[in-house]
Amino acid sequence: MRKILFLFIIIMSAGMFSQSDQIALIPKPQSLELKKGTFKIDENITLYFEPEFEIAGNFLNDFLQNGAGFQLKKTSEKEADLIFKKDVSQPSEGYILEISNSKITIKASDASGAFYAVQTLRQLLPPQAETKNPTKKQSFSIPQLTITDYPKFQYRGMHLDCARHFFDIEFVKKYIANLALLKMNTFHWHLTDDQGWRIEIKKYPELTAKGAFREETLIGHYNDTPQKFDGKRYGGFYTQEDIKEVVAFAAKHNVTIIPEIEMPGHAQAAISAYPELGCTGTQIPVATTWGVFEDIFCPKEETFTFLENVLSEVIPLFPSEYIHIGGDEAPKLQWKNCAHCQKLIKDKNLKDEHGLQSYFIQRIEKFVNSKGKKIIGWDEILEGGLAPNATVMSWRGMQGGIDAAKEKHDVIMTPTSHSYFDYYQSDNPDEPLAIGGFVPLKKVYSFNPISKELNAEESKYILGAQANLWTEYIPNEKQVEYMVFPRILAMSEVTWSGPSENLEKDYPDFVTRVEAFMPRLDSLNINYANHLYELEGKILKEDGKVFYELTTPTKGKEIRYSINNSETKAYSKPILIEENSKISANVFKNGEKVGRDFFEEIMYHKGITAKISLSVPPNPAYAAGGKEALINGISGSDKRYGDKEWLGFWGDDLEITIDFGTPTDINSVTTRFYNAPGQWIHAPKIIKMIRPFVDGTTDTISIPTFSPDDNNENIIEGYIPIIPILAGKMIDGSKIVLIIPNYGIIPEGQQGAGNKAWTFIDEIIIE
Ligand code: ACM
Ligand code: ZN
Repeated sequence: MRKILFLFIIIMSAGMFSQSDQIALIPKPQSLELKKGTFKIDENITLYFEPEFEIAGNFLNDFLQNGAGFQLKKTSEKEADLIFKKDVSQPSEGYILEISNSKITIKASDASGAFYAVQTLRQLLPPQAETKNPTKKQSFSIPQLTITDYPKFQYRGMHLDCARHFFDIEFVKKYIANLALLKMNTFHWHLTDDQGWRIEIKKYPELTAKGAFREETLIGHYNDTPQKFDGKRYGGFYTQEDIKEVVAFAAKHNVTIIPEIEMPGHAQAAISAYPELGCTGTQIPVATTWGVFEDIFCPKEETFTFLENVLSEVIPLFPSEYIHIGGDEAPKLQWKNCAHCQKLIKDKNLKDEHGLQSYFIQRIEKFVNSKGKKIIGWDEILEGGLAPNATVMSWRGMQGGIDAAKEKHDVIMTPTSHSYFDYYQSDNPDEPLAIGGFVPLKKVYSFNPISKELNAEESKYILGAQANLWTEYIPNEKQVEYMVFPRILAMSEVTWSGPSENLEKDYPDFVTRVEAFMPRLDSLNINYANHLYELEGKILKEDGKVFYELTTPTKGKEIRYSINNSETKAYSKPILIEENSKISANVFKNGEKVGRDFFEEIMYHKGITAKISLSVPPNPAYAAGGKEALINGISGSDKRYGDKEWLGFWGDDLEITIDFGTPTDINSVTTRFYNAPGQWIHAPKIIKMIRPFVDGTTDTISIPTFSPDDNNENIIEGYIPIIPILAGKMIDGSKIVLIIPNYGIIPEGQQGAGNKAWTFIDEIIIE
């Protein structure tokens, strides 16, 4: 008995502190050297810090008071067990954390570095230490180690849209506190939009009296027909006192708040309060639905006076060096029809309405600069010429950021493809309704804010990255947390530890730490999503044979599956597929089913063993499955064009060649396109196919993508036309070619007007 117990203890202590097991640090430090032995933190430990490190020292004591029931007593540098030491050799925000058998030493060159050392120390304590009010004083054993750490990027941001839905300051503070835990240093506070103006401006009381409230809110998705509304007045705003309280709280968490005051677009709430700010002067309501609205600020003198007065109240509230002025999604229709706007374009010798937007932003920039601050704008501020000192937030992809960096402007990368946390994170059909898209945890983790298109010099302009949380479809705090966690853990690791250079090696390690981090999130009462126990399936092709591979991201799990209702088996290797197959599977942890039931249907059609080539590659943001996804026998989601089965092409005409290798009888070719005008996705109007015949000749047929009795009003988002390309006709050839012209530039009056349309195509089923 004794012997067995002894052995058990040996095994436990050997495995205790492996980096990704017991020590679940997120973001992962640059270097960690684990030593033997532990250090005990209890109420007898004494503390020394210089005034420069006061925020870090106070945070630690507040944290221990909250979770352990004691504070460390302050003493002299010589006598203290835990000391903060100034070390100018440490990089900005970096630190060394040394835990020996008798002492904890934190070295940093600045207050941020010391603060982040404390966050690391905190993550070495057990999750219970996060929980409030222990009944008795606690003590904790932590491993002896040396951590040397510093951030890869200086800007590590998280955004929250408090305009579409309003979140009170207690929640905003919790959100900010969670950024600090993950060594993120910037909170981008989206305060004004069409659906609500959320910041008190004393000079313009109607902004909040009227503009902070809407009569009702859309329920369900924007694309539902008919649209439904809840009939309930909705709103709220932050007083300047509230803002001061949040700013002070953020300072204690080493977080800078960048406020966003949107202009010239997303201004309907402001114009509803002061109609003279618009081009038409018409009284309009605060918006009750989502999207982009035509009513934007008119660049009149009185509008500039208004905006300067607003900014003059906003700027002193926020210590941030930046003010975000929006700049995105400003439809130019009203400017086109406005006599004042047209005269201004002429008088100022501007090229067009884009030139006018550029004039608008440059004028605001001059004002903001005169107050000692800099502007950030969404990437549309590149159109018509960039304001001289502006920082660009690249969201419609990476290109805006790349262009800005080449023009020597600072950039924050926040592309929809990797950093829009309002997009779906799982193709689980039970996910809460979201705007669309697909950004699972691994996609965020795979993000590299520095594009290969930039050389070393240009890359210096990429200050960092940020994830955005737009809240059209996120009505409450619990859902905010569900969308943010755990994806923010990946963004924190990308921006602090640096982008992964070996995804297949690093991601499993990350996921293991995420799994171990979840009890901490529980202790913090965070409503995180957990898709770690879900399965992922993939078609593999080898020597003309088709296999189906199942994987689950975390270690130590068992997969069991059944094919075409056969007996359930333990999964050990990819499954041979030779006919239409339905696969169901589950993940088991210690014999217990975890996660959700997995199901996949594979159509064993004639394309599955063919070769495919594309005239242009899919946009990197929507290329997850690669070209093979179009002939792998698996259809994409009916709701989520961003999954690994749909391929997205932005503005490109496309030709797809499918080569069967040998003459093949073909009865039909079927595919489908996604049509989501609200998200700039338009099915092509017509497609063509080159058909080969037995005698070696070919012809080309044109196929309209909608039946003639469909008119355009019937083509709404979520409606996915299934297009029979060929039916009832035999051809016998080795190659077919599909010609798919892009829909073109999105017309006025539609979401994304003036931009190139996206084409999304799914499985090409050949029978
Ligand atoms: C944005 O998502 N409109 C910046
Ligand atoms: Zn105008």
